[in-house]
Amino acid sequence: MGRLAFNNDVVRAVDQAEVVFNTVGTPPRPDGDVDLSQIYAVIDLVAEALKSYKVIVTMSTVPVGTNRAIVKRLRESGVKSEFDVVSNPEFLREGKTLHDFFHPDRIVIGFESERARAMMSEIFRPLYLIERPFVWCGLETAELIKYASNGFLATKITYINQIANLCEAVGADVHTVAKAIGMDGRIDSKFLHPGPGFGGSCLPKDASALVKMGERYSVEMSVIREVLRANREQPLRISSKLERMLGTLHGRTIAVLGLAYKADTDDARDSRAIAIIEHLVSRGGRIQAHDPKAIENFWMVCSEGVSFFDNEFEALKGADAVVFCTEWNEYRNIDLSRMKHLMRGRNVVDA
Ligand code: UGA
Repeated sequence: MGRLAFNNDVVRAVDQAEVVFNTVGTPPRPDGDVDLSQIYAVIDLVAEALKSYKVIVTMSTVPVGTNRAIVKRLRESGVKSEFDVVSNPEFLREGKTLHDFFHPDRIVIGFESERARAMMSEIFRPLYLIERPFVWCGLETAELIKYASNGFLATKITYINQIANLCEAVGADVHTVAKAIGMDGRIDSKFLHPGPGFGGSCLPKDASALVKMGERYSVEMSVIREVLRANREQPLRISSKLERMLGTLHGRTIAVLGLAYKADTDDARDSRAIAIIEHLVSRGGRIQAHDPKAIENFWMVCSEGVSFFDNEFEALKGADAVVFCTEWNEYRNIDLSRMKHLMRGRNVVDA
C-alpha cells in the first residue's frame, strides 16, 4: 500500500525518484525509420528536473546508439548532477504483459557504471531470487538484442507461413509439420503458428528499423528485408483465394471475422485484416466485419466499404464467403450449422 502514486508534475516525480524509466512509444516514421520524438521529449523534461544522481532507464525499443545520444543530450543540456543511462529493453507481449513481466525468459540490462548496475540489481532482485537469467552487457548490445529478438520472431513466423503455403500446394498438413519441427529443441515449438502474416505495433516496425539500421551502417539485412516483403504478400494470398472461390469479388458480400492483429487485444495497428479488406474492397467486394474487441480501433484505420457488426452472426447474414482473420476463442467453437443457415454461400477461408 502507498507504493504507487500518480503524478503529472514531471519535475516532482523525477525529483522524488532514484530511477526514472522511460517507456514512451517509438512509432515508425513513414520511411520505416523510428520516430524518437517522444523519447527526447521525456529526456528534455528529465534534464530540467535532474538535481541529484539518478539512473535513467530506457525501456522503450530504440535503435542502436540512442542511449549514447541520450547521455550526450543530457550533458549538453547543462545538467550539473551525476547520472547514468541504462538500456533495459522489455520483451512483453500485448495481452500477456503481467505474465511476461513476472516470468521473463531473461532480463537484459545495458549499463556503463557499477553504480547503475547495483541500482538495477536491487530493483530486479525479486526476479533474481526466482533465478530468472540476467544478461549484463553494453548499451549497444542491449539495444540490439531487442531488435534481433523481434526480427527473429518475425522471420520464424514468415518461414512457417511459407511452409504453410507449400503444404497447401502439395496436400501436406502444416500443423503437423510445425509440431514435428518444433519438437527439435534447436527450433522450438513457439511462434510456429501460420496465419495471414505478423502485424501489431512491434514486429513490423522493428523489422523495418533493422533494415534502416543496416542501411545506416552499410550492412545488408537481406533476410529481414525479404521477411517484410513476404509478410506484405501473405494477406493478399487470402484475398486472391476468395476471388478464385467466388469467381469475382464484384458485388459479393464477404464476412470478415477478426480485425485485431491477434487475439486477446483491441489493437488493430498493422492488422493483416486491413490489407485483406482493402484488397477485397478494391475488387468490388462488400465487407461485413466483426471483432469481439477491436471494432472501434479498426474503424479508425480502415472503414471504406466495411459495415461493422457487434455480433458475428449478424456479420454472417447473407454472406457469399467468410474469412477468419484473428484466432479469437469465440470463433473456434462457432455454431457451424447456424453459420451455414445464415450465409448465402458455402465458402470459408481460415487465415
Ligand atoms: C512482440 C514480441 O512477441 C514481444 O516479445 C515484444 O516485447 C513486443 O513485440 C514488443 O516489441 O513490444 P506483440 O507485438 O504483443 O509482441 O505480439 P506477438 O504475440 O509477438 O504477435 C505479433 C504478431 O505475430 C501477431 O500478428 C500474431 O498474430 C503473429 N504471430 C505470432 C503469428 O502469426 N504466428 C505465431 O506463431 C505467433
